[in-house]
Amino acid sequence: MINIAIDGPVGSGKSTVARECAKRLGIMYVDTGALYRTCALFCERSGVEIIPENEAAIAELLETGLKLDIKITDTVQHVYINGEDVSDDIRTGAAGMAASKVSALPAVRKYLLGTQLDLAKHNSVIMDGRDIGTVILPNADLKVFMSAKPEVRAKRRYDELIAKGENVTFDEVLADVNKRDYQDTHRETAPLKQADDAVLLDTSELDLEQTVDSVIKLIRGLGKL
Ligand code: DC
Repeated sequence: MINIAIDGPVGSGKSTVARECAKRLGIMYVDTGALYRTCALFCERSGVEIIPENEAAIAELLETGLKLDIKITDTVQHVYINGEDVSDDIRTGAAGMAASKVSALPAVRKYLLGTQLDLAKHNSVIMDGRDIGTVILPNADLKVFMSAKPEVRAKRRYDELIAKGENVTFDEVLADVNKRDYQDTHRETAPLKQADDAVLLDTSELDLEQTVDSVIKLIRGLGKL
């Protein structure tokens, strides 16, 4: 059994890299951002505004109204709201921003804690998120903190959103990236930060292949796979 934690800000490339590493190593990839996105989407669909004042109402809504299922086949993770596959619906820029807001609520983090711990306990995983190395898997075999300059990360997000047909400008995406960075690093509960024992990987000058190779090398270096 092996647990790898990959954290980093939006657009650092962590999801793509984590997925590819999991595929090459034949272990499970868990995208925890998708869980926050799903909770956010459910709040929005239920007409509950994501603001701190609504924390108790949101906790109650999630506890009583949401059956959140995750199915992972190979390295493809699907998320479901009460049986409906919402894996594509959660991938918009708006859902990302809503997820950033909902993730600042301690009650929501608590709601998603058990699911994440369970997956890591029963499987060899590469789990990516914001607090995996600091909170969820403090004893992970390896922690990687991926980052890159905001402009580089915004360009990656912009290309992704344009490819999906979203109507956005680069400046809007850059503003969003900066806003989400600020929200994710300044919240009180489990803010995005590098764990003391995490390896820092700056991907500003690296392409996907080079980044994947670096992470695989670190994992192989553990001598467990
Ligand atoms: O990785 P992502 O863009 O899909 O994440 C969406 C939001 O969810 C992100 O802005 C912060 C939040 N998040 C979090 O707080 N903790 C995690 N482990 C993963 C994501």
